[in-house]
Amino acid sequence: MRLLALNGSPRGPKSNTRFLTDEFLRGFAVTPANQAETLDIARPSDREKALAAFWHSDAVLLGFPLYTDAMPGLVKEFLEQVATLPRPDRRPTLVFLVQSGFPEATHTVPVARYLERLASRLGCVCAGVLRRGGIEGIQSQPAWMTRGIRERFRQLGETFGRTGRLDEQALRQLAGRERYSRFALRLVCWWSRVMYWDRELKANHAYDKRLDAPYAHT
Ligand SMILES: Cc1cc2nc3c(=O)[nH]c(=O)nc-3n(C[C@H](O)[C@H](O)[C@H](O)COP(=O)(O)O)c2cc1C
Repeated sequence: MRLLALNGSPRGPKSNTRFLTDEFLRGFAVTPANQAETLDIARPSDREKALAAFWHSDAVLLGFPLYTDAMPGLVKEFLEQVATLPRPDRRPTLVFLVQSGFPEATHTVPVARYLERLASRLGCVCAGVLRRGGIEGIQSQPAWMTRGIRERFRQLGETFGRTGRLDEQALRQLAGRERYSRFALRLVCWWSRVMYWDRELKANHAYDKRLDAPYAHT
């Protein structure tokens, strides 16, 4: 199977989307005959290649981060261009990957529904939408903390590479809890502050200013 893997993150090759896509592709490559090409659609030259290859691939994996509960503008623009291109009779199977900063799976539900409908409007089979929250900061976490999630992506890639399908139950497990309890949410907020946001502030020499309120008295 020839898979075109498209990274829709404005952050390009260093993005979390690319980090997760690469794991999926590691699993996909386990089947010897499979071939994959990854393109970052934030790069103009890659975007042109992606538009040229889209309708001629056996399968397309389109991944992106959730931006204000939707897809980044560059992904929307790309899809609008794809829809205007001539479509061959034999169309690629589509797989989507949507990952978000907030941890609860409920955030990615609306865009996942949209993507399933989009696939059918394009006349393509949608093999599934990989959804996962709590991803911001994944690349600064120690390897042992991310082993489980990387393994899940690898297994899903392997299954897709072997069968051309994705298992509903595995997708639900990947997405995780729809909503957290109030207690769990507080714990997650505290953890992400300590493990991510405070570190970012310190790295940018802004930690001491974190409680500043420059407009408070205007
Ligand atoms: C402009 C912007 C809007 C975002 N909106 C959301 C959002 O609505 N919900 C959410 O859970 N995460 C949101 N995030 C967080 C990203 O989805 C998250 O950080 C993601 O892992 C970034 O992936 P990337 O490195 O592939 O770009 C937003 C991030 C940015 C920069």
